Amino acid sequence: MAGKKRYYITTPIYYPSNKLHIGNAYTTILADAIARFKRLTGFEVHFLTGTDEHGLKIEREAVSAQKKPQEFVNEIVAWIKELWRELDISYDDFIRTTEKRHYRKVQQIFTRFYEQGDIYKGKYKGWYCTPCEAYWQERQLQDDQSCPDCGRPVELIAEEAYFFRMSRYADRLLEYIEANPQFILPPSRKNEMINNFLKPGLEDLCVSRTSFSWGIPVPFDPDHVIYVWLDALSNYLTALGYGEDDEKMTRFWPADLQLIGKDILRFHTIYWPIFLMALDLPLPRTIFGHGWLLLEEGKMSKSKGNVVDPMLLSGRYSADAVRYFLLREIPVGQDGVYSLEALIKRINTDLANDLGNLVSRTLTMVERYCGGILPVPAGQQEDSDRELQKLALNTPAAMERFIDELKINEALAELWKLVRRSNKYIDQNSPWELARDPGKRGRLETVLYNLVESIRFIGVLSGPFMPRLPDRIWRQLGLSGGAAGVRDWNSLQRWGQLKPGTAVQREEDLFPRLNLGRELHREIRSEKKVAPEPVQVSSETVPAGDEEEAGGLITIDQFARVDLRVVSITAAAIVSGADKLLQLTVDLGPEGKRQVVAGIARHYRPEELTGRQVLYVANLKPVKLRGVLSQGMLLAAEDEQGRLALTTLDQPFPSGSRVR
Ligand code: ME8
Ligand code: MG
Repeated sequence: MAGKKRYYITTPIYYPSNKLHIGNAYTTILADAIARFKRLTGFEVHFLTGTDEHGLKIEREAVSAQKKPQEFVNEIVAWIKELWRELDISYDDFIRTTEKRHYRKVQQIFTRFYEQGDIYKGKYKGWYCTPCEAYWQERQLQDDQSCPDCGRPVELIAEEAYFFRMSRYADRLLEYIEANPQFILPPSRKNEMINNFLKPGLEDLCVSRTSFSWGIPVPFDPDHVIYVWLDALSNYLTALGYGEDDEKMTRFWPADLQLIGKDILRFHTIYWPIFLMALDLPLPRTIFGHGWLLLEEGKMSKSKGNVVDPMLLSGRYSADAVRYFLLREIPVGQDGVYSLEALIKRINTDLANDLGNLVSRTLTMVERYCGGILPVPAGQQEDSDRELQKLALNTPAAMERFIDELKINEALAELWKLVRRSNKYIDQNSPWELARDPGKRGRLETVLYNLVESIRFIGVLSGPFMPRLPDRIWRQLGLSGGAAGVRDWNSLQRWGQLKPGTAVQREEDLFPRLNLGRELHREIRSEKKVAPEPVQVSSETVPAGDEEEAGGLITIDQFARVDLRVVSITAAAIVSGADKLLQLTVDLGPEGKRQVVAGIARHYRPEELTGRQVLYVANLKPVKLRGVLSQGMLLAAEDEQGRLALTTLDQPFPSGSRVR
């Protein structure tokens, strides 16, 4: 491999304290897209991820799960690996901090620091945030004495401990950061680190604990366990066989890109480079702190029970679609909002309409007009041909530039210019009209050839973002077998690489269109959230199992089990923090009043609803939606565009009347 360009990319190692949510998965999906793109362009890539298994936070989680820490983390680590398989994460190595290869090396690193005089023994008295595994001084806490990073309560600790002399390296680090503008990205984060932490003066860092035991013992003082961040950060080296496998270290160190979320920037741009300086190692080229993935109602949090499970989401909409959405929707350095609605819209517009239609229209025409055989492009070149070719040939380099600047969303936007241009090319050339005129046969064949060739470009370039897509395209283009030479990066240097005469084979649509309303109704959240948001359609009241047994039909008895009533809406209000929900009071006449939460806030204002009579399902099991009790549901009609209309009566009726 002499002379091959190399690229070492890392994600953080995850705390296996819980299943991961979509925000956690975002970091790794980003890293994977970059790693795959680098491989595509010819780099020898080493992509590292793993798990951060020690520390008080994990120990406590294990205790509350009534498990031994190792047993506790093993189960979650297995789930995390399964998640990465589901999401097609192509890591080259997965390191666990409980592995021997890591454990031993961390002890050696600690000993070296001690022997060099970087670490000394003292007494720690101060505050600790266990969720962040971070130390704080009294004056750094928020006014209510909580963690300045996460806002959760901190604990006072006082114990004998080892300290790392950060002050020794602070000036060198500041110089390095200022001389290397690509070291901390985005640039705004760099200033934050300099102004908030380096300029005010770095305190020595406490690097051991004695009050719990789930960690790597200090080898020469085993009552102490090594601070979990010193343990964790070392993984980027220990995974390369630091101190053992010099060949791998020289091949890949320093890392090219260390991708992390903005919450852990301080650890990676201050402590980590200082540890590296103390080890006499060069610093990574870039530490990139990506933004936060938020929900429409704010932060995802396990206590609120509103985390989005990436495993379920991918199982339902495919890894390719979930990856595409996250990569396309969010500019990497910024915070982004996840919503199911935005995901479904991306699937319907970009994937189903733009890309899916391009492939299915093109292949349908090749089948219809050319017997399914890729024709020879014998006709004259026209302007639209030259334009399409030029765009296709420029797209790889344009995307590569954006990837190198970590503008992943813009790289995808670039690819979509080609997708949309290809669709426009169909409309410009109207192959169905050419097909009616035998004199235009040559032109028709040229147009269809160019379209298939353009799809080939799109197939190659989409792989880093949607790893399963290329094979699905190659199968349809008849390129699954030995045609590797037309599926790689180099094959994009010239137009016209496809061999005419190949049999194409149209398959089912790549991304079927989804019904927005139905998907919102089935919204996937973590198991803690009891029920989906109620955008209700009456057909949904029949359990799927029964439907299958009777081929979609139900008996009159089954129908009679649904207690349908006429109700009057007597009050309506917005549910705070939930932009789809209204809280309604409905009157059932003699049976009194009930409270219903309905997902209709985007369709009706509260004041439009009071006084109206609507149809209501009275015998649904009550659920809590965003903490508000909902008893029963209103019936509404809904269409493909997600419009919604409540069912009403054509004359006033006594409240509580039965409907059958
Ligand atoms: O911090 N949006 O692990 P972790 C985007 N073990 N990214 C998010 C996010 C959100 N809502 N929530 C979390 C740790 N993340 C340490 C790392 S590295 C030597 C040790 C990201 O499991 C977070 O920023 O708490 C981080 O990049 C990753 O998920 C893992 O977080
Ligand atoms: Mg965290």
